[in-house]
Amino acid sequence: MKIIDLKTLNMVAPLGVGARPYFSWIMASDERDTHQTSYRLEICDERGERAHDTGVIRSDKNAYIAYDGAPLKPRTIYAWKVSATDNHGNAAEAESRFETALDMGDWRAKWIDSPIKRKKSKPGFGKQDPATMFRQVFSLKSKPVKARLYATCHGVYELYVNGARPDERAFAPEHTVYGKHLCYQTYDVTELCAAGKNAIGMYVGDGWYHCPHTAPDMKNKPKAHAALYQLEVEYSDGAAQTFGSDASAKAAYGPILSSDLYAGELYDANNETPGWSAPEFDDSGWANCAEADYGYANLVAQSGEPVTAARVLPAQSVTRKGEGYIVDFGQNMAGRVRLKVDAPRGAKITLEHCEVLDKQGNYYNNILSFGGLGKGCDQKDEYISNGKPAVFEPKFTFHGFRYVKVTGMDVKPEDICAVALTSKKADIGIFETSDARLNRLYENIRWSQTSNTLSIPTDCPQREKAGWTGDMLVYAKTALLNEDCTAFFTRWLKNMSCDQDEYGVIPMVVPQVGMYLKMGKMFKLIYRTQGNGTSSGWGDAAVIVPYDMYQVTGNSEILKQQYDCMRGWVDYIISEAARRRGRRSKLPQDIEKYLWNTGYHYGEWLIPSQSKDGLSFLKLPRVMRLSARYTAPIFGWLSVSTFAKIAELLSKSEDAAKYGEIAEKMKRAIQQGVIQPDGSMPADLMGAYVLPIYFDLVPEQHMKTFADNLVRSIQENGGCMDTGFLASPYLLDALCKIGRIDLAYSLLWQNKAPSWLAEVDAGGTTIWENSFGYDADGNPGNLSFNHYAFGCVADWIFRKVAGIDALEAGFKRILIAPELDGKLTRCKRKFVSAQGAIECEWSIADNQFRLRAVIPCNSTAKIILPDGQTHEVGSGEYEYAIAYEN
Ligand code: BGC
Repeated sequence: MKIIDLKTLNMVAPLGVGARPYFSWIMASDERDTHQTSYRLEICDERGERAHDTGVIRSDKNAYIAYDGAPLKPRTIYAWKVSATDNHGNAAEAESRFETALDMGDWRAKWIDSPIKRKKSKPGFGKQDPATMFRQVFSLKSKPVKARLYATCHGVYELYVNGARPDERAFAPEHTVYGKHLCYQTYDVTELCAAGKNAIGMYVGDGWYHCPHTAPDMKNKPKAHAALYQLEVEYSDGAAQTFGSDASAKAAYGPILSSDLYAGELYDANNETPGWSAPEFDDSGWANCAEADYGYANLVAQSGEPVTAARVLPAQSVTRKGEGYIVDFGQNMAGRVRLKVDAPRGAKITLEHCEVLDKQGNYYNNILSFGGLGKGCDQKDEYISNGKPAVFEPKFTFHGFRYVKVTGMDVKPEDICAVALTSKKADIGIFETSDARLNRLYENIRWSQTSNTLSIPTDCPQREKAGWTGDMLVYAKTALLNEDCTAFFTRWLKNMSCDQDEYGVIPMVVPQVGMYLKMGKMFKLIYRTQGNGTSSGWGDAAVIVPYDMYQVTGNSEILKQQYDCMRGWVDYIISEAARRRGRRSKLPQDIEKYLWNTGYHYGEWLIPSQSKDGLSFLKLPRVMRLSARYTAPIFGWLSVSTFAKIAELLSKSEDAAKYGEIAEKMKRAIQQGVIQPDGSMPADLMGAYVLPIYFDLVPEQHMKTFADNLVRSIQENGGCMDTGFLASPYLLDALCKIGRIDLAYSLLWQNKAPSWLAEVDAGGTTIWENSFGYDADGNPGNLSFNHYAFGCVADWIFRKVAGIDALEAGFKRILIAPELDGKLTRCKRKFVSAQGAIECEWSIADNQFRLRAVIPCNSTAKIILPDGQTHEVGSGEYEYAIAYEN
């Protein structure tokens, strides 16, 4: 037996831990039926002093074990050792480490402002002032044995120590609610520091902080690019020194003449100042920085991994088109281009990014007008050559693209590649079948996830890049089954709490910035709601995302972290439901007051048949209103009932009883006030039947009507799915519930739009916002081709097709039960749960069905074969073969 994969806060040996840590490990053994019988955690600081010892604890818990010792010291490396025993009498131990961040009171560095006067950044290419280079020199008496740099800025930065970058991260300090939660990063710079003069260089671009679309809503928001960095060194003789940003720092503009997260970057290589972050650089011509009093109160040690390159993709083809070239990278993504340039001085090279080409193979800009983003707004980068060969890759922008149009130089395929960016997360899922199209669908889902988990969960990387909460409500479970998103979601949810207003409202977009804040305020006025405007299904992410995290990983720490935020949100729902009567409602008050049927709501949002021609603002409001008649009451109930379950889990029995009772009343109100006496729904839409069936809200006597209506709605839609965001995660399961898995499979295999495979057949490489991506003539539409929401179907595929489901939170108890439909002959799925890797691989050949399953230690499983044979097993590898006729 071995102990492996030790993690602190779900990260491997993290630096700069500011939150109370929790610990996880995996037990691995060749022996079957192995579970942990005890563990002991011992934690020592870097001097070998014991900080905490849990003693031997009899438990099979191996993940999310919260540190409950005395407060940890800041800036300290802690080693932690886990010793565990199993039920076969084996013992094993393993060690890992983490390092704590600064204490608030440890900040000595001063915020520094660039003294260079700036104009306010405007939307559009080239409409921002240049990025700012900061530099400062420090003298070290000898080479340190330990050196840490803590840094952040107003903007986004790249950091250099003596000319070298400590890591490859992009877009530090992350997109957060800056006024309350500005991350600082911790770097181990021991190897980069030297005896004598050392220089720190920080290149600061506008980022989210200064971008007109994403700037935080703060009174007197600072206008300048500002920097904060603190270097802490320890020498071999035990002495320590602290250096920090202060008025001795210098600032200047460099080659980035303008940079915007949406519109792109303008780079003039003639403005480069080689060696600018080296100690000996002559900065006498640079401006002196001014100290600024921004304080430290909003600083938070970054939790979660940084944004880095997910993949580097070579060009698949380079085609001459008009005055330029169209380069195809074969994959839609979020990221940027890396280009080898060898052009005469002054030559201007332009890169224009797009997701799809038009019918003739030309560059096609599909960016809708959104709150001033402007119709056909740019996704452009421009490089002005200084006559020397160079490699250009923008620093402070990213785009959503598969194609790039290059003008101003001849392009050879070997000179250009695409760098796909994402927040780093461990890949914990594999899925592969005998069907190439299903495999591609899975790849497309993975790519939309990769593209849209960049610092925050985004809706799409080319248009809004916004943290729409509803999109993640729909997709969170699938996301967690693909990647270890725990740290990533934890930070975003913290920021969700920061954005919650005094009425408990969770905004539609987190961080709530720019036009979304204005939209919220407008909805509040028009719809006369309390607090900032929101929508059911969007704000509900506050409860559903943490609960999904718990369900998939067993992490109850996140439920504790978000508890108050969740309660605030459900209290808001309850009070909004009671405060005003629904329009034209004739319901008795004791039903009416438990129905959330007032306020602004997106309804199901993007029901395919209704959004076929893109976002028609004529059609959309009607469908939103209609579908909101059931989505708002149902999602309101879902949040309250889920919250009651969470209270129960955390042993908060008073809350569990209180909210459980309200949830029951809300359920009754749905049954009496939304579902009509004849069993019909207020709107004859597919989702109207899906949601009540899936959530067991249909009274017994109406079950048949609902089932018939659901089946009919599919038949009437040509055998295609027609659910919007909010009903799609439950569509195939609702069909299984009414005993029609055959229909669920037929929707999965459907290749006429709207369907999942229609996108694959049309050459899609990501999940689309609108399944009708192209019109009947083959012209691409205006919606995004990279939106993960409809990718939520993977959750069903993993459970029914691959056959791995959880019977208990965190896959402590596993169900292995593929449900075959005759089309596939082979399927393989691996998922690394909190207990370890679960595998299920099945195949059909020569009238035999074979299945191989791997169950990790600390889990048990129920394995059901297609002939009904059931096996209860513990950990280990199992193989079965049965006679089977396809
Ligand atoms: C976004 C969505 C979002 C929606 C809300 C769109 O513009 O791209 O994904 O949830 O607005 O209405």
